[in-house]
Amino acid sequence: MRLADKIALVTGAAGGIGSSTARCFAREGARVVLADIDVEGASRVLDQIVLEGGEGRVAGADLTSEKEVVDLFSELHEEFGRLEILVNIAGGDFDPMASVEEIDAERMTRNLDMNLKSCVLCCREAAKIMKPQRYGRMVNMSSLVWRGSPGQFTYSASKGAIYSFTRSIAIALGSSNITANALAPALVEVDAFVRALGPERWKAMSEATAARYPLGRIATPDDVAKAALFFASDDAAFITGQILEISGGARL
Ligand SMILES: NC(=O)c1ccc[n+]([C@@H]2O[C@H](COP(=O)([O-])OP(=O)(O)OC[C@H]3O[C@@H](n4cnc5c(N)ncnc54)[C@H](O)[C@@H]3O)[C@@H](O)[C@H]2O)c1
Repeated sequence: MRLADKIALVTGAAGGIGSSTARCFAREGARVVLADIDVEGASRVLDQIVLEGGEGRVAGADLTSEKEVVDLFSELHEEFGRLEILVNIAGGDFDPMASVEEIDAERMTRNLDMNLKSCVLCCREAAKIMKPQRYGRMVNMSSLVWRGSPGQFTYSASKGAIYSFTRSIAIALGSSNITANALAPALVEVDAFVRALGPERWKAMSEATAARYPLGRIATPDDVAKAALFFASDDAAFITGQILEISGGARL
């Protein structure tokens, strides 16, 4: 098992990619803390983990709230006294398909708070635990649109910022044996899209997108979970400050 005896905090653990990642990490021996604003959803994921023989617990938190992030990490520190792995997955696009002229200040703030601020605050609090123990693996969720995307202006800006923030903490924390890397998936098949678009529009959109990717399909949540596992494991002990595109060759 590649994460035996590790404590891993996975945010967004109730969601499509987060739930796959939490289950994958538990199968690899980690004790997983499933952080999400959706406590019921995270509890269902924990039930699956336990059924599969894994261990973990749910931590309900709105990760855009500084106080809730600080409380989450201090409870975690009190309970375990350590934290080896942080995977920041919680996020989403709150202003999709807006034109330049339609960029909305409130939705922009939501995008920056949900994608960037939550990640920065979690890394800050994790660093306080990881530095003294001289070990840490941070994995942050960017997106292939870090390269830019018309129609996802403020979301892609937040995901580009995740990459530069990840590089900055990789430089700052390397001497404490802490690595920080970013994941950049292309389109991933998650229920949230099917719910938002409806099954027919989702099918048309995902098939058209898959046809443009060299590998001829979109990503599964497991494709992303396995990349997160790589960065979180000691196989990636000498890799830091990198972004890994999980894209089936899209935008090469
Ligand atoms: N699905 C894709 O195609 C895709 C592609 C690239 C990047 N991403 C990124 O992957 C991450 C996960 O996306 P997903 O597709 O699994 O979406 P999802 O909607 O299934 O999961 C997002 C999770 O974040 C949680 N969350 C939302 N607001 C929160 C808050 N304030 N505090 C705590 N938790 C909160 C939600 O409850 C949900 O469980 C996101 O950061 C997203 O931007 C997704």
